[in-house]
Amino acid sequence: MNATSKQERLADLFRQATVIPVLTIERLEDAVPLAKALVAGGVRTLEVTLRTPVAIEAAKAMISEVPDAIVGIGTILNADDLVRTEALGAKFGISPGATPELLKAAAASRLPFAPGIATASELMLALAHGFDLVKFFPAEQSGGIKALRALAGPFPNILICPTGGIGEANAASWLAEPNVLAVGGSWLCPAADIRNGNWAGITAMCERAMKSLKPASR
Ligand code: 3PG
Repeated sequence: MNATSKQERLADLFRQATVIPVLTIERLEDAVPLAKALVAGGVRTLEVTLRTPVAIEAAKAMISEVPDAIVGIGTILNADDLVRTEALGAKFGISPGATPELLKAAAASRLPFAPGIATASELMLALAHGFDLVKFFPAEQSGGIKALRALAGPFPNILICPTGGIGEANAASWLAEPNVLAVGGSWLCPAADIRNGNWAGITAMCERAMKSLKPASR
C-alpha cells in the first residue's frame, strides 16, 4: 500500500466511525464483551490502547471473536509498538505524539497510522513524513476548538481526530469543525462500567451518541 492510499484508507475509516472509543482494558476477559457491547450500540471502530499488560491479547481476542469490530491500536510510542500492532492484524495505529523515530518507522510501515500533535511544529514534522491525518491530543487541554482553528489557518488541509477531554457535551461541536473527521475519547466506556460488566449501559450510551451525533461533513 503506498503512502497516499494508506492515509486515504485511514481517513475513510475515521469518517465512517464518527466516534472512536479509546479503550483501556485491564482484564483480558472484558475484551470480547466490551467490543460486542460497543458494536451493538453502533460503535465499530475501536482504539485499544497499549496501556495495560493485556492490551495486545485483548485486541487479538476482539479481532478473532468480534468480526464486526474494526480494531486499531492506540498509545503507540515507538517503532516496536508499531511492529507489534501490525503483527496482530490491527487495522490502524494511533499515537499520542510524533517523534522522528516513530514517524520514520510509520512512514515505512504498511499500517494506516495517525500520529499525535498539539503544536504547529509537531504538525509540520508529521506532514514532512506524509501524515496529514493526525490525532489532536490532548485536544481540550491544548486550547480546544480555538486552537484547532488557529492551526487550520496555516494548514487548511489537515485532517483531525481530536481526543482528550471530549465527551457527550462537546463531541458535536468538534464534529462540526471542517477539519475534523471523527472524535475519540474514553467517555463511551467508563472504567467503572467495564469493571462491573455494565455492557448494557455501554451499549445504551453508544446508541445515544450515534443517534445524536452528525458525521463529519468532509
Ligand atoms: C487518549 O489517549 O486519546 C485520551 O486518553 C482520551 O482522553 P479522554 O480520556 O479525556 O477521553
